[in-house]
Amino acid sequence: MGNSQAVRQRVLVPSSGVRIPLPQPNETYFSICAIFFKLYNDDIKYRPVSTLLSINQSLFMTQKKPVVFITRPIPQNGIAMLKKHFTVRLRKVNSPIPKKELEKEIQNCTALLTILTDKIDGKIMDLNPNLKVISNFAVGFDNIDISAASKRGIAVGNTPGVLTQSTAEHTLALILALMKRIVEGQKIMERNAFCGWGPLYMLGKELYKKTIGVVGFGRIGVRLAEIAYYGFGCNILYDNPSVNKKMEHAIHAKHVKLATLLKKADVVSLHVPLLPHTHHLIGKKELSLMKKTAYLINTARGAVVDEKALLSALKKGQIAGAGLDVFECEPSRTAGLEKLNNVVMVPHTGSAPVEAREGMAQVAAQNIIGILKKGAKPVSIVNA
Ligand code: GLV
Repeated sequence: MGNSQAVRQRVLVPSSGVRIPLPQPNETYFSICAIFFKLYNDDIKYRPVSTLLSINQSLFMTQKKPVVFITRPIPQNGIAMLKKHFTVRLRKVNSPIPKKELEKEIQNCTALLTILTDKIDGKIMDLNPNLKVISNFAVGFDNIDISAASKRGIAVGNTPGVLTQSTAEHTLALILALMKRIVEGQKIMERNAFCGWGPLYMLGKELYKKTIGVVGFGRIGVRLAEIAYYGFGCNILYDNPSVNKKMEHAIHAKHVKLATLLKKADVVSLHVPLLPHTHHLIGKKELSLMKKTAYLINTARGAVVDEKALLSALKKGQIAGAGLDVFECEPSRTAGLEKLNNVVMVPHTGSAPVEAREGMAQVAAQNIIGILKKGAKPVSIVNA
């Protein structure tokens, strides 16, 4: 409060007439009020309906704000947006929510803000017939049973767009790390095993003018293709259910069958969602079609690749290397991958740049606001 503003002293005047100064409303004051308020309302729950009706209606009504439960801390910007409209219950623990806790919490909210490790099936949805929206803090939504949600009239939101650039850059980082043998080099330096420059030492590759095969030509796949084309003069092949005429014209991308892409590409990069038909899309047979000199990059979902088949192909030298951001059974990965020099692995950090995460928080919050507030619009509802 500014100095120029006069602060009116609050006093208590008991029958004795002695004026007792009361503290100014500050944090402690408000916390005490909050405790009384909670006690008062807890008390409300146990009163018979007839008594309830006589209780201050407006006070009771203010308690009716819809509750949003957030299963794990997310960037503050999203929380602040939600707090403007709803009662926000944030689980402050930075680890996946245990099933039992989720089963309890889901019963008391109108909206659930989930992260990609929260498995939400029909059974759990049935615990709360009043649940209106599940907003997933991710572009992927394979952790949620979408048809179960649709049957129950629950909207499911995701966060496309805001992590496109981050994930495309991340994919490029993995490609370059493999081609320039960055992680291998780092390990040599850490072991103090660098014995001097040599003409044939640690030979790598240029990305310049290589052929990139993009499997799944959605936002992220297209962005990667643009960066590779404009930045590195790459040829672009893509496999996708539909043809992208705009990109065929702009960057000369060629629509091909998966088998053709696998045979021709120097880098195969996966950008498909995990769906029943994309599970193990890349297995033993597909890996055997790839060039011995080619790299496989996965920044989509782990189970798009048969990880055991990949390990075997890498060990046999069937392909040159793999860059993996995602794994079949996260947080673990198939044992043996970590021993290979031609594998670069990172812990599912494709959307980890703060710009992307803040964007995801904003979109995830807006999806809830858009569903629950009249006149507001969600950004992306996958079962709209
Ligand atoms: C991250 O993997 C996401 O799906 O957003």
